[in-house]
Amino acid sequence: MIQIAPSILTCNFLHLEQDIKAAEQGGIDAIHLDVMDGVFVPNISFGPLVVAAIRKQTKLLLDVHLMIVQPEKYIQQFANAGAGMISIHYEACTHLHRTIQEIKQAGCKVGVALNPATSVSVLENVLSEIDMVVLMSVNPGFGGQAFIPLTIQKIKQLKTLCGQYQKTIDIQIDGGVNATNIASIANAGATIAVVGSAIFNEKNIVENVQQIRNAAELKL
Ligand code: DX5
Ligand code: ZN
Repeated sequence: MIQIAPSILTCNFLHLEQDIKAAEQGGIDAIHLDVMDGVFVPNISFGPLVVAAIRKQTKLLLDVHLMIVQPEKYIQQFANAGAGMISIHYEACTHLHRTIQEIKQAGCKVGVALNPATSVSVLENVLSEIDMVVLMSVNPGFGGQAFIPLTIQKIKQLKTLCGQYQKTIDIQIDGGVNATNIASIANAGATIAVVGSAIFNEKNIVENVQQIRNAAELKL
């Protein structure tokens, strides 16, 4: 069954604690934290301080998605703040293999994120070193965007590539996921869905999570 990790980017930050508690009540598997620096992506979000504050109020895995340049400079800070998974962008790393090692040395699981235009084949030489691949299904920087349909084909390509390795490599889909597309995303082979605005919109968060969970299990 595909895991659901809500992205807090589209939360109402004035009541972040209650929104996260509501999502947990709905039944989520991790919390996806979108860190943006205004350079790698045209938006600025939050840093280790917010991660540390959230760490204090939940036992769930904190899945930190670094949409920043030079991510190697901040790995220890996010690990100290309580990140359990750190994902960096392939497009932001000059020395990707080294940065992967540094995340592991910091005691975190490691993911590598690919922008929509980046082919899965670029990860061929590091797949055996990582725990997860993040396929961006929107152009990174904002919540509430439309899912890029090309991603379904990319999931299948990545699944075939990962199949060559004995270890389990999670395939996380990030952006534009909702109740209408999560079944085809799961069916294609994704193991984790990041969901932001489809959970944290103005309606009932608990019900939103349950609706998406039920939709994910629909047989196509
Ligand atoms: C976009 C972020 C996504 C986004 C998901 O750069 O990486 O995690 O916040 O939000 P929705 O589900 O609204 O696209
Ligand atoms: Zn994200």
